[in-house]
Amino acid sequence: MTGNKTFTMIKPTAVAQGSVGKILDRILEEGYLILALKMVHLCQREAEAFYEVHKERPFFGSLTEYMSSGPIVAAILQKDNAVDDYRTLIGATNPGDAAEGTIRKLYGTDLGRNAVHGSDSRENAEIECSFFFSGMEEMSW
Ligand code: RTP
Ligand code: MG
Repeated sequence: MTGNKTFTMIKPTAVAQGSVGKILDRILEEGYLILALKMVHLCQREAEAFYEVHKERPFFGSLTEYMSSGPIVAAILQKDNAVDDYRTLIGATNPGDAAEGTIRKLYGTDLGRNAVHGSDSRENAEIECSFFFSGMEEMSW
């Protein structure tokens, strides 16, 4: 089952503008099962821990400040080929470059406020799911 899971966050602007329901509905329509789900307001230290892989990048400060600026919705998603298919569903990092119909194209506004996060590998999906959820919080349908 491990290879069939990915991790997502709906980012603060998309939560604040009331897009959570529409984004989750789209995810379900695309055939994902939601194995775990919660809304959390990260503090900056928690955002820094989550994005530690980017700590040397010039955008680390602005990214972690933004991701702790309001509540996010975190979820574990399950589907065949979940990691790669979800990256396709969300679209390019910059909503301006994202394909029509992708979640970032529909709900993102710019490179920082790009609506959603999606794991970039199976290994990182495991790490990110474990960062937000204990085994007890994860369903096995
Ligand atoms: P994500 O992790 O959120 O799914 O996005 P991603 O893989 O497509 O992009 P990544 O390279 O992991 O970057 C993480 C987030 O940092 C912001 N970013 N800002 N100012 C910049 O040059 C820059 N580059 C990336 C984006 O919000 C991106 O989602
Ligand atoms: Mg990434």
